[in-house]
Amino acid sequence: MTDLLIHSMSEFSDLILAGLTLAGARHIVEIGAEHGGMSRRLAAHVGEAGGRLTCIDPAPSPTFSAWAAGRPEVTHLARQSLEILDDLTGIDAWLIDGDHNWYTVFHELAAIERASRRDGTPLLAFLHDVGWPAGRRDQYYDPERIPAAFRRPHDWDGGATLGEPRLVPGRGFRGMGAFAFAVEEGGPRNGVRTAVDDFLAGALAEGRDYAFASIPAVFGLGVVFALDAPWSRALADLLLPFHDNALLRRLEENRLRNYLRVIALQDEAAARREAVGLAAS
Ligand SMILES: C[S@@+](CC[C@H](N)C(=O)[O-])C[C@H]1O[C@@H](n2cnc3c(N)ncnc32)[C@H](O)[C@@H]1O
Repeated sequence: MTDLLIHSMSEFSDLILAGLTLAGARHIVEIGAEHGGMSRRLAAHVGEAGGRLTCIDPAPSPTFSAWAAGRPEVTHLARQSLEILDDLTGIDAWLIDGDHNWYTVFHELAAIERASRRDGTPLLAFLHDVGWPAGRRDQYYDPERIPAAFRRPHDWDGGATLGEPRLVPGRGFRGMGAFAFAVEEGGPRNGVRTAVDDFLAGALAEGRDYAFASIPAVFGLGVVFALDAPWSRALADLLLPFHDNALLRRLEENRLRNYLRVIALQDEAAARREAVGLAAS
């Protein structure tokens, strides 16, 4: 993704770190490190708190791997999250920013809840991409890893555009070979936000009620946390001004429309270059 568009979870780091401090979180798991933008902030936090950071990512950038190898407070597990989450113990807080699809995120939340109940630690999870484009549309780094019953019809080349539920061939916001998107937006078991909604509804049906805050900026940050945690009121006070904030929502929509326009201009320039190349050959 081009640097023209801010996209990292680290854009929320002031808020996330303030939340981790309020919750006294020392042992933190980050799912999806990529270049380590957020990992570096988290490592500084756990370093000061005397804790440890575990980053799960099967294919981070070499820069991240080299950085993590030199940090005693950081462990990198080059695994898929769902293979390993049940083995982790004593975790105070979780950041979820790996494979952005319903199956993965729903089961990550389920595993995190199992861990928090097993260990007696109140659940605290920050999730990226609860907004557009992956909030209501599955994104797959490797579709074959998702069981067929949960894998939606998908496309590597079609792009997402605002207000159009179907992917548009060769246009719009797309993975350029890095990931595929579900062809259709919306409907059951589709997207990160739907996974959160279904997790919360399932827990509530069994008598476990969690708080959820949604911050509509930079692809959307969700925060799920235990209502009965000693720090839950303080965390709610921190998040409330941002939760579903209408001005942030408006700014995000404007940012996305402008970015889609940039992609359209880049596509037009590429088509012109190809036409000139064809004419010259
Ligand atoms: C969007 S990037 C993470 C960005 C990073 N959190 C940030 O804010 O700068 C997603 C990362 O998740 C990793 N990933 C994909 N599937 C995963 C999985 N099942 N478990 C853990 N990580 C996964 C990818 O390799 C990629 O590096």
